[in-house]
Amino acid sequence: MIQKLRGMKDIFFDEALKFDYIVNTAKYTFEKYGFSKIITPLAEEYDLFKRSVGDETDVVSKEMYDFFDKGNRHIALRPEGTAGVVRCYLEEKFNKSNPNIKWYYYGPMYRYEAPQKGRYREFNQIGIESFGIRSALLDAEIIEMAIRFLKNLKIDDIILEINSLGNIESRKKYIESLQKYLLENYDKLSENSKIRCHKNPLRVLDSKEDDEIVKNAPKMIDFFDEESKKYFEDVLYYLEKFNIKYEINPKLVRGLDYYSDTVFEIKTNKLGAKSTIIGGGRYDKLTEILSNQSCPAIGFAIGIERIMQLIEHNDFISKKDNVYIVYTDETKNYLFSVLNELRDKDINIFYEYESKNFSYQMKKANKLGANKVIILGEQEVKDGFVAIKDFESGEQSNVKISNIKEVI
Ligand code: HAM
Repeated sequence: MIQKLRGMKDIFFDEALKFDYIVNTAKYTFEKYGFSKIITPLAEEYDLFKRSVGDETDVVSKEMYDFFDKGNRHIALRPEGTAGVVRCYLEEKFNKSNPNIKWYYYGPMYRYEAPQKGRYREFNQIGIESFGIRSALLDAEIIEMAIRFLKNLKIDDIILEINSLGNIESRKKYIESLQKYLLENYDKLSENSKIRCHKNPLRVLDSKEDDEIVKNAPKMIDFFDEESKKYFEDVLYYLEKFNIKYEINPKLVRGLDYYSDTVFEIKTNKLGAKSTIIGGGRYDKLTEILSNQSCPAIGFAIGIERIMQLIEHNDFISKKDNVYIVYTDETKNYLFSVLNELRDKDINIFYEYESKNFSYQMKKANKLGANKVIILGEQEVKDGFVAIKDFESGEQSNVKISNIKEVI
């Protein structure tokens, strides 16, 4: 038997309802903040991710699902959504015609990671991206929106970690100084950090094996210019205005290269030690990297599978009535009149396609969780009636076929 690929999964029954519930809650929440939907392709040119996410990141250097198509183009399945959305924004020249755009999207992403609970090779994200505005108030509002989305799903046991990487110039100066320090302490670094020290020094800061070195490393905040400092202070000020609790984590750098200024992660302890469910930040330099045209932007993405694991209630299960119709060979003709009457009502209708005996049908109605059973008995039907049994109250009454729509 052919089986699904490692790190991928099928989602069905209640889990599929939960998935839709999360997406619908995101849509409901984000539209109130002025976001509209965008759909971009699953496949993009490999170079888009190489240039935006960064070719030294794990995502690009180790985890890409890439291939050459029949025209010998180097293609990648998207590992994340931001790069494609930014590509569209620039390709459509919205930075000139309509710069202030707020988009949300959702769909599958691909990363060739070592699969484990909550970490897949195909996973689904809901993301948002906001273009054209550099404002500390917007940064805080976007974080507040992420938390409101979780609140709307009744998820509140969360930790918001926030940091600033400083504006583009400050970040550049800091990276130079950090790299110099890391090279001076090169022999004491773990093997992983030795590689990162050359390729992606910021990522050494979130290394778990190099605590001592990291502790004494130059501090990002000391390299902030006045604008960077003020910007971060303002973000924190507005978060307080929104009543959002946060923890500043100076080691938070994120795993993708395009960030500057505000970066944040929303974590939970419920999925194992501090697992990240939402991550994002400002990326004012990305449009410039891709097109030489600068345009401020900020966004975040939510891991749908991780959110699914956190939902403990059943609010996503349909509250619609389940109606089961019991009939016999003799009354089968009436089945169609009943179906035709009821199909345009907002209920779920079940019946057997092949004739079955009465007790089989009643057992099936029970199994399907029917609230009501319509019984097309021979005598009742002859008299122009059907019997309706309410499974919850146990009451049964005869109703005229022509009145059935009003009673159900
Ligand atoms: P990210 O932190 O790489 O950010 O991913 C965001 C979220 O996707 C994570 O917090 C996690 O919940 C989920 N996720 C990531 N990898 C996996 C995986 N292998 N299996 C299951 N879930 C996973 C981004 O992707 C950025 N594009 C976010 C962003 C948007 N920044 C600005 N705009």
